[in-house]
Amino acid sequence: MLEAPVATPPQLLCAGDQLAERGTAFVFDVLHYREPARAFVLRFDGQVVAYLNRCLHVPTEMDWQHGEFLDGDREFIICSIHGAAYEPREGRCVGGPCGRGKLTSLQVVERDGQVYWYPSRDTQPAFPA
Ligand code: FES
Repeated sequence: MLEAPVATPPQLLCAGDQLAERGTAFVFDVLHYREPARAFVLRFDGQVVAYLNRCLHVPTEMDWQHGEFLDGDREFIICSIHGAAYEPREGRCVGGPCGRGKLTSLQVVERDGQVYWYPSRDTQPAFPA
């Protein structure tokens, strides 16, 4: 008889106060479908949001400097390669060559001053805590 897989426990990413409103993201390593990749979490309108660091246009990392994803007006996540723009709350493409898709979101919560990520079946920690 097959056993149900054990869920990966929540992973501590960083302190909540490390994420300034519309500031620099915290970038972390993951395994996405067992392949090494990076993800990021940032604060936008008070909420923490996290995505795989992978553009929909070409599957490459998007930050223009390490952890810097937002445009000059701090309104959109911008891909540094060809300028695709994503709405930060849901990761939806709103302009540029990213089509109608959405960034791959990761489930994160802020609790007791800490930010945690809940891994999914598809996206797991590269270095489990
Ligand atoms: S790779 Fe992101 S817009 Fe082209």
